[in-house]
Amino acid sequence: MNKREYMFSILDFVLVLFLIATVDAMVPGGGGFDENYNVTWGNVLKLNQGKEVQLFMDKTEGSAFESKHKFGSGFFQMRIKLPLKDSAGVVTAFYLTSKGDTHDELDFEFLGNREGKQILIQTNVFTNGQGNREQKFVLWFDPSTDFHTYGILWNPYQIVFYVDKTPIRIFKNNRRYGVGYPSKPMTLVCSLWNGEGWATDGGKAKINWSYAPFKANFQTFSDSGCHADGQKINAKVCGSTTYWWNTVQYSRLSANETTAFKNVRAKYVTYDYCSDRPRYPVPPTECRLNQ
Ligand SMILES: *[C@@H]1O[C@H](CO)[C@@H](O)[C@H](O)[C@H]1NC(C)=O
Ligand SMILES: *[C@@H]1O[C@H](CO)[C@@H](O)[C@H](O)[C@H]1NC(C)=O
Ligand SMILES: *[C@@H]1O[C@H](CO)[C@@H](O)[C@H](O)[C@H]1NC(C)=O
Repeated sequence: MNKREYMFSILDFVLVLFLIATVDAMVPGGGGFDENYNVTWGNVLKLNQGKEVQLFMDKTEGSAFESKHKFGSGFFQMRIKLPLKDSAGVVTAFYLTSKGDTHDELDFEFLGNREGKQILIQTNVFTNGQGNREQKFVLWFDPSTDFHTYGILWNPYQIVFYVDKTPIRIFKNNRRYGVGYPSKPMTLVCSLWNGEGWATDGGKAKINWSYAPFKANFQTFSDSGCHADGQKINAKVCGSTTYWWNTVQYSRLSANETTAFKNVRAKYVTYDYCSDRPRYPVPPTECRLNQ
């Protein structure tokens, strides 16, 4: 090798390293915690070179992390393992929020429970500061013993809450019928906090601190959302089908998803604001349209 060839082979080598690094960063599910998230509250332990984090809650405080970017659409998935044993009063949350008084928000809240009793999932949808759209579910597995994937799809057509591959709740874009739909840039947040005032048995089951510190584990810190870091979402960009979650197959449930969805609705829903007549003598418009 003469000097010139030698230089080229070094350049090739550097190029190959660069390509490997780039491809690695583009792999779905790739991207470490530090790349995409900031710790915003309390004690967060990073495990496995940032492939997993653990949120802590003790008497002093809970903890949280949130995405560095804000989003305008996406399919947000997080693998979560909830606090073990007696977690009454402890809330683990995974949600998208635009923050502020007139916020849009999509919530997964896991309501801890006494040992031996089932953990409930509460979901909610806020548009322009208006929530009160709670739906609660029990699960067909124990979410404290293993990681499961919880997902929120948000595109111009629909919002779907997923547990593993199963859709459990749909909120369609019915803006043309006057139903609110999230339209502000939202941040992804995960937190572990003291919700004993309301979360378990309507606030009657308090935290048993002999089980503290409570710990919830999270994995998969990929960035599968359309970045919207300004004041507004650019609808043309974030609604574009160049993003896979905006393509036609994500505009409604597939046949097998519909079957799975109906099964969940029949067997695992424990509360639905749409059928709470004392609260809503006339069900909100979206209840009929989301059928
Ligand atoms: C995340 O943390 C970095 C480094 O501390 C900071 O520069 C950035 O503003 C933070 N981002 C958000 C959205 O808080
Ligand atoms: C529906 O089918 C798709 C494609 O075969 C599969 O990936 C998915 O897991 C199925 N969903 C359910 C809920 O069974
Ligand atoms: C809290 O848990 C401990 C350990 O299981 C138990 O001995 C105690 O009675 C519990 N306290 C309450 C208030 O339930």
